[in-house]
Amino acid sequence: MAPVTTDRPSTPSRTAPSPVPSAAPIRQPARDILVRLQQVTKIYDNGCPALLNVNLQICKGDFLLITGPSGSGKSTLLKLLYGEERATQGEVWVNSVGLTDLRGNSLSKLRRQIGVVFQDYKLIPRRTVSENVALVLWAQGFTRKEVQRRLLPTLKMVGLQEKADCFPEQLSGGEQQRVSIARAVVNTPPILLADEPTGNLDPDNSGQVIKILKKLNSIGITVVVTTHDEQLVKMSEHPVMQIRNGKLFQVNRQSSRETVP
Ligand SMILES: Nc1ncnc2c1ncn2[C@@H]1O[C@H](COP(=O)(O)OP(=O)(O)O)[C@@H](O)[C@H]1O
Ligand SMILES: [Mg+2]
Repeated sequence: MAPVTTDRPSTPSRTAPSPVPSAAPIRQPARDILVRLQQVTKIYDNGCPALLNVNLQICKGDFLLITGPSGSGKSTLLKLLYGEERATQGEVWVNSVGLTDLRGNSLSKLRRQIGVVFQDYKLIPRRTVSENVALVLWAQGFTRKEVQRRLLPTLKMVGLQEKADCFPEQLSGGEQQRVSIARAVVNTPPILLADEPTGNLDPDNSGQVIKILKKLNSIGITVVVTTHDEQLVKMSEHPVMQIRNGKLFQVNRQSSRETVP
């Protein structure tokens, strides 16, 4: 099932297994829902409405693009998923855990299952590439051996094994973003959220970043990417949703026209 608003019929999955010839009726196996928003409204303390009655389901293995103009609510939606902000109304579940009252250790535990990538990378300037990536594992109590076991393959996956000892300022923007992706997935979280990951990059570097996100999706990580880059949306073969004025719409990709929410 592709990501759907909860009040819409589901569509067949890109990853659903092909039907096998058989005399018996064929049933699509139900796919696990990883993220669910039900009637979610977010109004910031200053009265600014960011999301209004949003319904959304994201299944395990999905790759979802969320588009929309600046200020439409994209970052707010992701912040609700990793517990940086709380819904004013409605319910948010990630991996069957409700976030409404989640605090302290329970919230930290959930966050370990969510990799996050930001537009501005957020790397630690005085730490090398290796250290920036390994810090996540050290903070989570991984053994030295386990850190070593994970580090190199993750840097290789983003094409940065040669830059392991460089500092962020010695890297291009595209390379820094690839470090931040490595950092986000080095502990193999089931879900990766990327908030405008290509926002500061030229088309070549954007392409590389998207290719890595797709590779991660192909090995089973559920990926949610926000972007206001129309080119990226046009080129995408993945489901696209659009936020406008805090409301979420499913986009008809063939004609790039919105459908009813
Ligand atoms: N911490 C905040 N306090 C008050 N208003 C905010 C805050 N963060 C975002 N907003 C407002 O919420 C709306 C949605 O913002 P945001 O989710 O950042 O949009 P986008 O990521 O699509 O640019 C905007 O009107 C923005 O000004
Ligand atoms: Mg934003």
